Amino acid sequence: MNIKLQVNDQSIEAEVQPGDSLLKVLRANGYFGVKHGCETGECGACAVLIDGKPTNSCVLLAAQAEGHTIKTIEALGEHPEQGWRTTPGLHPLQQAFVETGAIQCGYCTPAQILAAQTLLENNPDPTEAEVREALSGVLCRCTGYLKPVQAVLRAAAVLRGEDVEPIGNPPPELAIPAPESWQPRPGEDEPLTESGLPGASAPTRTSIMPRIWVSSASKTWQQVGKPELKVDAVKLVQGKPAFTADFERRGMLIAKVLHSPHAHARIRHIDVSVARAVPGVAAVLTWQDIPRVAYSTAGQSDPIPGPLDSFSLDHKVRFVGDRVAFVAAETEDIAEQALKLIVVDYEVLPALFDPAQAQQPDAPRLHDEPEFVNFADSDASLNLAARIHIDIGDVERGLAEADQIFEAEYEVPKVQQAHIEPHVVITYWDEDDRLVIRTSTQVPFHVRRQLAPVLGLPIKRIRVIKPRIGGGFGGKQEVLIEDVAAHLTIATGRPVYFEYTREQEFIAARSRHPMRIRMVTGVKRDGTITANAMYALSDTGAYGCHALTVTGNTGHKAMALYVGDGVYRQSPNIRFYADVVYTNHPPAGAFRGYGVPQGFWPVERHMEKIARTLGLDPIEFRLKNALRAGELHPFSTAWSEGREPRPETIQTNGLEECVRQGKAVIGWDQKFSNPNWHQFSSSDGQAHPYLRRGIGVALVMQGTAIPYLDMGGASIKMNEDGSFNLLIGATDLGTGSDTVLAQMAAEVLGVPTEDLVVYSSDTDFTPFDKGAYASSTTYISGTAVVRAAQACAERIRARGARLLNERAGSDGPVLEANDILLRERKAISPDGRWVSLAEIGYNAMHHEDQEQIMGVGSFVSPVAPPPFAAQFAEVTVDIKTGQLTVDRLVMAVDSGTIVNPITASGQIEGGMTQALGYAVCEEMRYDEAGQARERNLRDYHIFQANEMPQLDTIFVETFEPSHPFGVKAVAEIPMDGVAPAVGNALRDACGVDIDANPITPEKIWRALQTT
Ligand code: FES
Ligand code: FES
Repeated sequence: MNIKLQVNDQSIEAEVQPGDSLLKVLRANGYFGVKHGCETGECGACAVLIDGKPTNSCVLLAAQAEGHTIKTIEALGEHPEQGWRTTPGLHPLQQAFVETGAIQCGYCTPAQILAAQTLLENNPDPTEAEVREALSGVLCRCTGYLKPVQAVLRAAAVLRGEDVEPIGNPPPELAIPAPESWQPRPGEDEPLTESGLPGASAPTRTSIMPRIWVSSASKTWQQVGKPELKVDAVKLVQGKPAFTADFERRGMLIAKVLHSPHAHARIRHIDVSVARAVPGVAAVLTWQDIPRVAYSTAGQSDPIPGPLDSFSLDHKVRFVGDRVAFVAAETEDIAEQALKLIVVDYEVLPALFDPAQAQQPDAPRLHDEPEFVNFADSDASLNLAARIHIDIGDVERGLAEADQIFEAEYEVPKVQQAHIEPHVVITYWDEDDRLVIRTSTQVPFHVRRQLAPVLGLPIKRIRVIKPRIGGGFGGKQEVLIEDVAAHLTIATGRPVYFEYTREQEFIAARSRHPMRIRMVTGVKRDGTITANAMYALSDTGAYGCHALTVTGNTGHKAMALYVGDGVYRQSPNIRFYADVVYTNHPPAGAFRGYGVPQGFWPVERHMEKIARTLGLDPIEFRLKNALRAGELHPFSTAWSEGREPRPETIQTNGLEECVRQGKAVIGWDQKFSNPNWHQFSSSDGQAHPYLRRGIGVALVMQGTAIPYLDMGGASIKMNEDGSFNLLIGATDLGTGSDTVLAQMAAEVLGVPTEDLVVYSSDTDFTPFDKGAYASSTTYISGTAVVRAAQACAERIRARGARLLNERAGSDGPVLEANDILLRERKAISPDGRWVSLAEIGYNAMHHEDQEQIMGVGSFVSPVAPPPFAAQFAEVTVDIKTGQLTVDRLVMAVDSGTIVNPITASGQIEGGMTQALGYAVCEEMRYDEAGQARERNLRDYHIFQANEMPQLDTIFVETFEPSHPFGVKAVAEIPMDGVAPAVGNALRDACGVDIDANPITPEKIWRALQTT
């Protein structure tokens, strides 16, 4: 049928099917600012304004929109500079979203802005609560909503004609003074070295920043440490076609996958003849049609540290949702129809859902295929994907020397990454018969390498393009769906589009490994830990992707924090054992934090119990035993993800200062041990009969990158106007890494960040990079960028010196390259003469001894310096119903130098919000047949804008000497401490210990009945 729609004051005609959603029709007509995040009206990414009201276009039939006005993000402002054409520029809302850092991946941004626009049209002066309410229909998995709310309030002020403070000028009252013992920021009082970087003698302790602010006193660094605007913000705020799915190609087929209805079954026979005969079906593939190649879907460097136990298609299925067949058809409807016509004869096998049962000798075996390739201690005959035994010191002796031994069991759930952009890929043959894979991935180079044998193509005939990513959080560190589309393109010769539905995300993507964990800790009466042991039973599900490395990090990071004190500090006694077992659950994989949140739930709940049982102050007890700067990372000599371990000393550790600052901001001393504060009182001073307050803490550490393995590369080329192209294989999945990498390059090159044109990533054009994981981009890829910039800067200084010498003739001193300082787009001599970078660019490319000024850098780190943090939580508990409200989260973080306080604080806020879900509500559950109970974003609840507690971020800067700018990781550590801090606050409020998160009202209520 033919319909007419009024979109953005233009009339469009569209040929639609009766069941077509408005979302589908708008995107088919090029309105790519309207995003797909689900099919059921729950995420809000598809919101448009219908007659001025925000409406989810995925649940509205296109035909129903006839006769109404439709407005999409494309109707708002545009880039202010369009060559000779001047434009009004961005809408104030768009501008505010750019300025405040409200955009991370930007996938939800168009819908948030449209929702805010409706609010401001009806209510020009909204309260924060009204803004939160207005944004509550649009889920954001990245930001924690703080900056989007700030953006809307800022835009409202602009629209009312009020002046707003420029971003980057912190009000003085927000500055937390650094203690006197702390040194000024490195380089502040010393001249730049020739490289443009602070000298090697830079002190390690620097300044402290509250919330998003860096010290405004920093004069040395021009770009690093500044709240530069995200380099991709302007396009994202306009809803430009930046993501994988925002792409048109003639003759593109739609792919669909037939998923297993059984948790464990062998395929006796599969008949696809009827499905193949359906008009419009281009291909139906089963395991019989494609090569049988065992591989791992975990996107990791070579060699993959895990078993090769997966096939694109197999004759056995191992979980509900496993793949049975692939279909490619002219339309989605035809593909769906074909799926229904595939006839499969299954031999249903006994299934395993309990990891403990999976270890029994008579348990069914999931991987009985002869192609299974072992890694380290994996053993398919025992359903064992990985086994870890790490002994540091002598745990038995330490326990024997303890005054008291504390033992307890804990449990952590399976949870979902829930990025709003689903997994999506497009594949096609290019004009050179090379396979192009345009995909939403965190690991484009691993996709290319790992898929080559699976597809029967050499690496050189595969090109992987990574556009913008709508969130990943580890879920896209998996070679998950690229092979589906690629096999179908190989089979048909045609472009193929494949995107997961939200239900497929829940049943057939990856998740966090659930674990059961046993802690045994020996402690002296004075609070000295004499030995600490953890055993983790980890459920990897049907496949062992990331099995060894995720679970290894559970111990490697969480059990490293407490080494003991006195002689025990000199020689800690720590044990970490783990079995990672196969079950018939959907596979687990990488999820932000990478095993460490699973470790800190038991460790920090356990420490709290020990401190309270022994009558010790919980914070002093922790700090007494915590790892300190100058000490050996206890696991560094014992384990390194299956490779040779090498000793590593902790260079910087701001943990004590994090505690001091966090305590001050949350008011710990006024609240902890204060019965008046714990008793909730109404405004008239009456004690509430059921409400109790509590405050809790957790100390945490993470890692930064994987030493001696993961490599980042970068190249920079200079243009004749003095601008630069920064080409990086690193993948910005919304974190702002493209921006901080550009800032570091700009610092070395002496230009503003806006002079760097950043491109990431394309395996044909950008240097290799391991991808975005292990909190490594700023550190690993950042060092590669600095090296590339230094190589470039060396050529610029040499040419600058020559030009200045030529101009001076025989009059001036002869300048060498090392005499030249790059600053403010100029090459400057010590006596103040200068030549612009544009002059140098023209000179190099057109005038004299022509050359392309270009630099390439690579970096592999010998160390993985840990960031540290103190996480605080404040809660209110209703002891009658078990209802728990988290009122405030305060996180004080030592992530080394903060390159961009806005993007970094956005990482902390968003991470704390994801961790809050892990603490109190998120869990993936299954029935007795292995069917997922949560299949959409209604049943699987993630926090909305109007449900958030107050969030505070404090940066305690240290200077990590192994990085040119002193950075450590920031992205993952906010996942680690929220759940145990909330658990500890619950205990503080009402004496109840919950040892299995999420901490639901039902669990609290049940526990209250027994206390
Ligand atoms: S895509 Fe429409 S609400 Fe999710
Ligand atoms: S910025 Fe909101 S989903 Fe990524």
